Amino acid sequence: MPLSVLILAAGQGKRMNSEWPKVLQPLAGRALLKHVIDTARQLRPDAIHVVYGHGAEQVREAFKAEALSWVLQERQFGTGHAVLQALPRIPDGHTVLVLYGDVPLIRRDTLEGLLKLAGPKTLAVLTVMLADPGGYGRILRDARGRIRKIVEHKDASKRELRVRESNTGIIAAPAKLLKKWLALVNNNNAQGEYYLTDIAAIATREKFNVVPQLALTEAEVLGVNDKVQLAQVEAAYRRERAQELMLSGVTVIDPQRLDIRGTVTAGRDVQLDVNVILEGKVKLGDRVWIGPNCVVRDTAIGADTRIFANCVLDNAVIGPSCSIGPFARLRPGAALGRGVHIGNFVEVKNAKIGDGSKANHLTYLGDALIGKDVNVGAGTITCNYDGVNKSQTRIEDGVFIGSGSMLVAPVRIGARATIGAGSTITEDAPADKLTLGRSRQVSIDSWARPAKRKKS
Ligand code: UD1
Ligand code: CA
Repeated sequence: MPLSVLILAAGQGKRMNSEWPKVLQPLAGRALLKHVIDTARQLRPDAIHVVYGHGAEQVREAFKAEALSWVLQERQFGTGHAVLQALPRIPDGHTVLVLYGDVPLIRRDTLEGLLKLAGPKTLAVLTVMLADPGGYGRILRDARGRIRKIVEHKDASKRELRVRESNTGIIAAPAKLLKKWLALVNNNNAQGEYYLTDIAAIATREKFNVVPQLALTEAEVLGVNDKVQLAQVEAAYRRERAQELMLSGVTVIDPQRLDIRGTVTAGRDVQLDVNVILEGKVKLGDRVWIGPNCVVRDTAIGADTRIFANCVLDNAVIGPSCSIGPFARLRPGAALGRGVHIGNFVEVKNAKIGDGSKANHLTYLGDALIGKDVNVGAGTITCNYDGVNKSQTRIEDGVFIGSGSMLVAPVRIGARATIGAGSTITEDAPADKLTLGRSRQVSIDSWARPAKRKKS
């Protein structure tokens, strides 16, 4: 059966104490709702319907680039009411999967399992065993293990409250049946709401099957209601991503101090020291070593390259056998060849640097094309910006730039040229020659140092 996913995201999230709608709160750098949408997409549904209400404009704005069907629920009369708002858009022949904008860690395999259970006459309910089920709806089963009813915490008797099997809220059922069952739901309960959960008892009464699937871990069904729970799901996310990476063979010195906020592919025998943050798409070649306190975003690092402590790498491509840092910053467009050395307090932006070239100390290389085996002395700056325009510096193979040089772009340094230390280079420098651009040194014979008058 074709699939329609329905994500409930209309609630306010009062307990967040935030100006932002709850579903826009960030988890590992992405909005909570974004995690749910991304997982839903992996199921290849016909459509994803998002029921929204609180913070309507902000939510729509945040997802304007996504193909989604938006269903406005202006006032929140309960989860059953929320689902009803979207059902008219879903053809009878579809299976409906109900997800929640604030349950971000739900796993694709779990949902696929649930969808397999949801037959043409079956409501499938994802449940979870909780040590402390406070606040959750409780699953009441019959003698044969089928679900008889789901009772909300606020409506449960003392005896029912002792049940530990809890409702995650996630269900799958044929659209046609959902429409039929929801039409029979009323709001005669402790909260005066239309409960989606009431369809379990209705389906049972009408002789349909209500089958439970137990979630394997608590983490994937954790809902986020406040900042404490937000930090808990962040920790769970961090743990899972680190575990995946370790199982793929990466050595992680301390998984609690590694944050993966994107997708990482790693070769063999990669090592990550503490407090490393990997964001976006990160590719690590064989035997890459990343030292402590590094932030790596959307960057590819070649085999055998070492990144020393405290580097920030953003949208860079780094070749094999390079040595970067400590304290280096590679900005977007940095493209390094093989065996390049970038040392401490060196910033590289939109610059191609050829094999074997080195810039080891206190340097800015921006908008530059640098050849092979170039040695850039300490304190060199490519002066790429005149306040309006950006210009390029070209440094050809084998050049030696003396320390403290200003290369005023646009400018070109010919192959194997040497630039004397302290030069300000404003004209192209020819190949194979020593070029100096500094005033001559003079010594003044007649000069005397002013003397302090002695106090008597
Ligand atoms: C719901 C379940 C409960 C389950 C729990 C799991 C019902 C009646 N209860 O309870 O059995 O154990 O989730 O976390 O379904 N929402 C809307 N529109 C509404 C109401 C809710 O979009 O009118 C959204 C909320 O934004 C939230 C989700 O639905 O994301 C759940 O609603 P909430 O009111 O938090 O339900 P719970 O009381 O937690
Ligand atoms: Ca809730």
